[in-house]
Amino acid sequence: MSTIITATPVTAGLGELFKRHALSNKTVVLFDEHTRKLFGEGILNTLHQEGFQVRELVVPAREASKSFNAAYRLYGKMIEGDVDRSWNILAVGGGVVGDLAGFIAASYYRGIPVIQLPTTLLAMTDSSIGGKVAINHPLGKNLIGFFHLPELVLIDPSYLKTLPRREIYAGMAEVVKYGFIADEAFLSFLDLHFTQIVALQEPFLTQAVKKSAGIKDDVVKKDYRETSGLRATLNFGHTFAHGLEKLAEYRYLRHGEAVSIGMTQALFLSHNLGFLDRASLDQALSIMSRFIYPKGLLKRRFLDLNSSELLQNMLSDKKKLDRKLRFVLLKKLGEGFLLEESVDDSKVLQAIEDAKSFFRKQTKAH
Ligand SMILES: NC(=O)c1ccc[n+]([C@@H]2O[C@H](COP(=O)([O-])OP(=O)(O)OC[C@H]3O[C@@H](n4cnc5c(N)ncnc54)[C@H](O)[C@@H]3O)[C@@H](O)[C@H]2O)c1
Ligand SMILES: [Zn+2]
Repeated sequence: MSTIITATPVTAGLGELFKRHALSNKTVVLFDEHTRKLFGEGILNTLHQEGFQVRELVVPAREASKSFNAAYRLYGKMIEGDVDRSWNILAVGGGVVGDLAGFIAASYYRGIPVIQLPTTLLAMTDSSIGGKVAINHPLGKNLIGFFHLPELVLIDPSYLKTLPRREIYAGMAEVVKYGFIADEAFLSFLDLHFTQIVALQEPFLTQAVKKSAGIKDDVVKKDYRETSGLRATLNFGHTFAHGLEKLAEYRYLRHGEAVSIGMTQALFLSHNLGFLDRASLDQALSIMSRFIYPKGLLKRRFLDLNSSELLQNMLSDKKKLDRKLRFVLLKKLGEGFLLEESVDDSKVLQAIEDAKSFFRKQTKAH
């Protein structure tokens, strides 16, 4: 299993760290244009000073970089740069860079080590951990990929200082998700310190990141290949979210934004099906009411949607089994489970409507 190191200033001492984890000092560093500009000099200088052989790769900062074309281009650069099995890849960026670097690492020379240095809240708490790496296909997101665990995940929350607010909230969705599915005390902590965390205040930020990364790692250790249903609980809110993302053409809604809207629907579904009691639902909704979305986004990307159309688009979610939708629900706050039975469309539609009413009230109140 991979080693996760949190809350260390990771730029200095990379050489020592790599040595300790039996990683060679021959490294391909993958950035996107933003992370290259923000952190490139610091990281590359450190690597050079510490005697590394380095190759540098940069991709555009967008979801479309998780493509076969991008991977193909990068393989070419690596071959031309004499990168062989003795090298490793260091991913510096969000989930896009992390997934692409992981995909390349899993396939290049039949697999070389990948080290993740996540720089978004979503990547620190979710995508960099757990070894699911993938690129997108024109017919669907994340369809082509591997299980390829990172050797190291280096999490330093101070990288978040430059992250746009919108991205912080998007990442916060996954953080709150861990509270919902796995840890009621953590959920209370998030409820209490939400404002401080999104303002990146310490020690709350690091505590939230550490706990989230720890929960994800723990779930992955127990159900790496998603066979027991436990890892599937990480998809709380995601069945709804995938429909929203698809309707937003994977462009106009951040993954985390879709997840926060999707979790709200999943909370109502958990309540309407008789699992989550009213008081818990209200407590959960009070946390969801703290999420802030760009102006007009909720209206355009959720409230104005035809609910049946949303349901149709959830159906083409790759996580479907025999074309039946599968939902992760909450038994109570801090305990998620994968519902084996299928859910009537009318119940799903009701949950969508309930979430719409909730967000309509919210947008009026703001
Ligand atoms: N592998 C997994 O288990 C897993 C889990 C969840 C999500 N994902 C994938 O993750 C991707 C989304 O990741 P994301 O939300 O991190 O998006 P992202 O990688 O697109 O990053 C968001 C934006 O923030 C910029 N950025 C990154 N770090 C920054 C920093 N410190 N300061 C300023 N700007 C910074 C990026 O350049 C980009 O423009 C999706 O492709 C999704 O499928 C994978
Ligand atoms: Zn997610």
